[in-house]
Amino acid sequence: MKNIKQSWAEPYKIKMVELLKMTTPAQRKKAMQDAGYNTFLLKSEDVYIDLLTDSGTSAMSDRQWAGMMLGDEAYAGSRNFYHLEQVVQDVYGYKYLIPTHQGRGAENILSKILIKKGDIIPGNMYFTTTRLHQELAGGKFEDIIIDEAHDSESEFPFKGNVDLDKLERLIKKHGAAKIPYVSMATSVNMAGGQPISMKNLKALRAMTKKHGIRVIHDMTRVAENAYFIQQREKGYENKTIKEIVHEINSYTDGATMSAKKDALVNIGGFLAVNDWDIFEEARNMVVVYEGLHTYGGLAGRDMEAMAIGIGESVSDEHIKARVGQVIYLGEKMLEYDVPIVKPIGGHGIFVDAKKFLPHIPQDNYPAQTLAAEIYLDSGVRTMERGVVSAGRKANGENYYPKLELVRFTIPRRVYTQAHMDVIAESAGRVYQRRAKIKGMKMVYEPKYLRFFQAQFEKLK
Ligand code: F0G
Repeated sequence: MKNIKQSWAEPYKIKMVELLKMTTPAQRKKAMQDAGYNTFLLKSEDVYIDLLTDSGTSAMSDRQWAGMMLGDEAYAGSRNFYHLEQVVQDVYGYKYLIPTHQGRGAENILSKILIKKGDIIPGNMYFTTTRLHQELAGGKFEDIIIDEAHDSESEFPFKGNVDLDKLERLIKKHGAAKIPYVSMATSVNMAGGQPISMKNLKALRAMTKKHGIRVIHDMTRVAENAYFIQQREKGYENKTIKEIVHEINSYTDGATMSAKKDALVNIGGFLAVNDWDIFEEARNMVVVYEGLHTYGGLAGRDMEAMAIGIGESVSDEHIKARVGQVIYLGEKMLEYDVPIVKPIGGHGIFVDAKKFLPHIPQDNYPAQTLAAEIYLDSGVRTMERGVVSAGRKANGENYYPKLELVRFTIPRRVYTQAHMDVIAESAGRVYQRRAKIKGMKMVYEPKYLRFFQAQFEKLK
């Protein structure tokens, strides 16, 4: 008898649908030209399947929607804040909570508190907003992720790991006093949603403790990282996602969170710390930039939806189906020979544009070009994560990241397996005609986070 495999499937059913507009090739061509070949500048109604980001794009559950009706919209002391505080303490294990409107609000406050001019902030690969806030506060980011993370072909199971030798060298060179904290992300976004192992994190904790350096956790996608630890790391196969998340956080001193990802809400975030002094300063500062410390730029109903979403996000069934769908899409793309970052990560498929379009030099934006071509082919919207996203250094020079990627980011609980098929087929079709695709030049470049609003023209 044949051994029949046990497939993953969604632990929910669909109660409401949102109708999508189907477009013609001519409509897409016009829309892409009007958007200056930047998928961020497309109108969402011109998009069929939206894989721009998994940020704020999840479908909330009936329980979260019911929670929205329990919003206590008091200016101060909303009951939803206390619910959220209790959930953050229970699920994540951090002591003090400062809500913010989204992740970068927390990054701003944290960077302003901890970073002094001339400080060095080592991290396991940069994230756009995180690094910018570090730089705006006077710090310099130093990448200490393992080399494998920069190699799209390496199948190393924990490509989010910190290279402790790189960290040791930085400490020797600058002195621990110049390093306010290590910026450690779970499910490293720019590396392709790659996890850090518990073993590496424990070793990072031991080394930083010795030198009196904090570890601050970008926990935006911590549950997805926990899933890979459960699947790949010895000793964790029988632990729940919630237990693993708790253990990860226990090796860190505080966290910034964009709740728009893991936590299944359309808006929201927070800063969470264990240190009373930092908390006190953050609570002072949040009123300047976000709002009172019991709402931080959020409505009461937003905090309630977040509190409920955090609970759902650490369910083993949820995370298995969530990552299962991403892996399904990646394996389909591999069937069509599309070069993707391996192993497949937690929140999307990252197509290697350098391998896909080897004839286009990085200065002509292969990933930006490929994202435009995918949209033209099928109305699927993706995002550049390469030289445009990397931006410029403080001295004006371009950063040239090794990874030049197009991210097909999967919103949580939104699309079906049939959508995944359509996406993979589109990537396969564009791959078949790749030799005919030409690069682009940038014709408008904003000063900060240029990828959001830059505009391009096709090379003739
Ligand atoms: N950290 C990580 C790892 C992120 O992926 C993001 C956002 C942030 C911080 C900032 O949070 O958007 O709530 O202010 N990532 C989105 C993305 C924008 O598409 O990957 P935010």
